[in-house]
Parts: sequence; structure tokens; C-alpha cells
Amino acid sequence: MSKRLVAYFSASGVTKRAAEMVAEAVGADLYEITPKVRYTDADLNWMDKKSRSSVEMSDKKIRPEIITGDIDVAPYDEILIGFPIWWYVAPTIINTFLESYDFSGKKIVLFATSGGSGFGNTVRELQPSAPNAQIVEGKLLNGANKQSVSKWVETL
Ligand SMILES: Cc1cc2nc3c(=O)[nH]c(=O)nc-3n(C[C@H](O)[C@H](O)[C@H](O)COP(=O)(O)O)c2cc1C
Repeated sequence: MSKRLVAYFSASGVTKRAAEMVAEAVGADLYEITPKVRYTDADLNWMDKKSRSSVEMSDKKIRPEIITGDIDVAPYDEILIGFPIWWYVAPTIINTFLESYDFSGKKIVLFATSGGSGFGNTVRELQPSAPNAQIVEGKLLNGANKQSVSKWVETL
């Protein structure tokens, strides 16, 4: 069986809860993708065009800094990456994570939480950050519970 890591970014805790369920269901290690500077409520205000998240998501070249060096991804064959959907895609901090380590030859399965939106162009926007990895759209885990998460991970 392949060795799996669950890595997640969560600004307000929803994806964190989903990631914990996924890690438990697959018996995987759990790793939090941590921004160097945490997002405040004001940073997350999507109604404010000048908020940090609005500015970051309006220029997809921006790479929010993360804490690195505290995980070795080499031993893992499959990495499940979770995040909230921001402006219909993954936050660019996920690009930062993918560009910070070598994911060559690995399978990356995505999961997300949102207010209702799907993955949109997420795979297309993440792939250039890990060109030699196989990135697949996994599941939107809105309202997920242990049972539904277990059912999903069985299909992986
Ligand atoms: C900046 C920002 C942009 C968002 N954009 C979307 C969106 O485009 N579609 C959507 O359904 N939800 C959107 N949401 C809602 C989040 O995806 C949702 O609340 C998510 O579960 C939060 O996860 P977290 O607590 O792990 O950060 C957005 C939230 C924020 C803060």
C-alpha cells in the first residue's frame, strides 16, 4: 500500500476539520501548510478589494510565504492536499507549497471545502507548480462526516 500524507491549508478551521477526518480515514500523517503570516478576519474579507486575500487572488503570480523545512515529502507516494476554495480555485498558497518541495513522480489528490463552488480551474492552475506530479481532482468535502469521508477514501 502506498504511503500517504494529508497536507492542508485552512484559514478559518473548516478544511482543518475535513483534513483530520481524511487523515484518520486513510491512516495518513497530517501536516498543516502554515502561512508565515496568519490570515486575519480582515485579510479574508472578499468584499474588500484591497484585503490581503483579494490582492493575492487577483494576481496569480503572488506566492504567499509559508513555513518550510518542517516536512520531508520524499517518503510519501501519494499526497492528499486540502484547502478552502477562494475565488473559485485553490488559494495561491497551495502553489507556494507545491513549489517548495519536490513532488516529482507523486500522485496528488485534491480535496476542498467551500461555500458551494466546485474546483473550477484548480487543477490547471496548480499543475505548473508541480509539473512532474500527477494532480487529480478529488472531492469537495462540504458537510462531510466520518462516514462520507471513509466512503470517498475507499475509492482512492
Ligand atoms: C477570500 C475568500 C474567498 C472565497 N471564495 C469562495 C468561492 O469562490 N466560492 C465558494 O463557494 N466559497 C468561497 N469562500 C468560502 C470558503 O471556501 C469556505 O468558507 C471554506 O470552507 C473555508 O475554509 P477554511 O475554514 O478551511 O478556511 C471564500 C472564502 C474566502 C475567505
